[in-house]
Amino acid sequence: KKVVLAYSGGLDTSVILEWLKDTYGCEVVTFTADLGQGEELEPAREKAKQLGVKEIFIEDLREEFVRDFVFPMFRANAIYEGEYLLGTSIARPLIAKRQVEIARQTGADAVSHGATGKGNDQVRFELGYYGLEPGIKVIAPWREWDLLSREKLLAYAEKRGIPIEGKKKGGSPYSMDANLLHISYEGGVLEDPWAEAEEDMWRWTVAPEKAPDQPTYIELTFSHGDCVAIDGQSLSPAEILAHLNKVGGANGIGRLDVVENRYVGIKSRGCYETPGGTILLKAHRGIESITLDREAAHLKDEMMPRYAKLIYNGYWFSPEREAMQALIDQTQQVVNGVVRLKLYKGAVSVVGRKSETDSLFDARIATFEDDAGAYNQKDAEGFIKLNALRLKLAAGRRR
Ligand code: ARG
Ligand code: SIN
Repeated sequence: KKVVLAYSGGLDTSVILEWLKDTYGCEVVTFTADLGQGEELEPAREKAKQLGVKEIFIEDLREEFVRDFVFPMFRANAIYEGEYLLGTSIARPLIAKRQVEIARQTGADAVSHGATGKGNDQVRFELGYYGLEPGIKVIAPWREWDLLSREKLLAYAEKRGIPIEGKKKGGSPYSMDANLLHISYEGGVLEDPWAEAEEDMWRWTVAPEKAPDQPTYIELTFSHGDCVAIDGQSLSPAEILAHLNKVGGANGIGRLDVVENRYVGIKSRGCYETPGGTILLKAHRGIESITLDREAAHLKDEMMPRYAKLIYNGYWFSPEREAMQALIDQTQQVVNGVVRLKLYKGAVSVVGRKSETDSLFDARIATFEDDAGAYNQKDAEGFIKLNALRLKLAAGRRR
């Protein structure tokens, strides 16, 4: 009877809006979120109004997105398949959560989204819905309707008087998704995994070879594993990422071109720009390197691929994610200090790290010079001999 639609204001979700009314005779509530995608949201309100929507929700979720989703994920140094920083994956649970909350608030019994039946996003949205509201009804138009080509979609839009902007007719040849963490490109010429992306596809970063000839230095301050200040200036989570995107983009940092394994089994080629995230990840590892105990760090590293996969596959609201998060967060209590980074032509390097309160780095012990008895080299002899014991037994048997 009433459905909450994740509405971008674009052509696809506008067609979905009309199709929902047609097909289910239901009332549609629209929900549009600002996650830092860099698009005006007011046009979405106007469009929804034009299409007769009475309950229109437009929300700025940028701070919540970075504070409660991106930062917790970065505490784990999460990377999917060795490359992807999960920019789209981490945004879906928040959208799902707000849709469910709005459904409760407006007395809606169903939710709907514009993800296709071939991708990851449908899984992430819907696992989110069910994980938060088990009894909810889910409508996924792309899996139900027959508007499977661009022409059919445009014809339907025309018939229903949905305004089609020039941008959509001759606009971007890519399927894109953007938020404060990244912008992604799929489809179009990228469907040939051998074809290099055209330079003018990239929107957030300059080409590394066109980046400034002088390096940029920045200092990131961490508190309990989260970045809280840049060059000594305290900033909110969303401000941190916005700032890092700017300096990272100007230095050509964070471009990525991969073929990844979707949860549904498809191999998909995608390009990503994650300038701020790329800097943040490097910096976080830098501060962890002096503050985390070796085995605590290694435990995190062993868990990381599993944690990343779970986010990629859509299990943010799951018992196993919460359990891993508790462990990760516990390790971050001591992750405090400052990292100094050098940004130069697409590369980000840690060039300094310090922690007044929590460093485990002891120059007296580590030194190649006289350590004045801080470390007894003789202790190493027994350490090595006992560790060699089983190797000697194995070697003896081989002979
Ligand atoms: N392949 C990436 C992922 O699964 C990006 C998906 C982009 N989504 C989109 N609707 N364009 O996380
Ligand atoms: C989609 O299918 O809607 C986008 C791609 C994806 O979700 O993986």
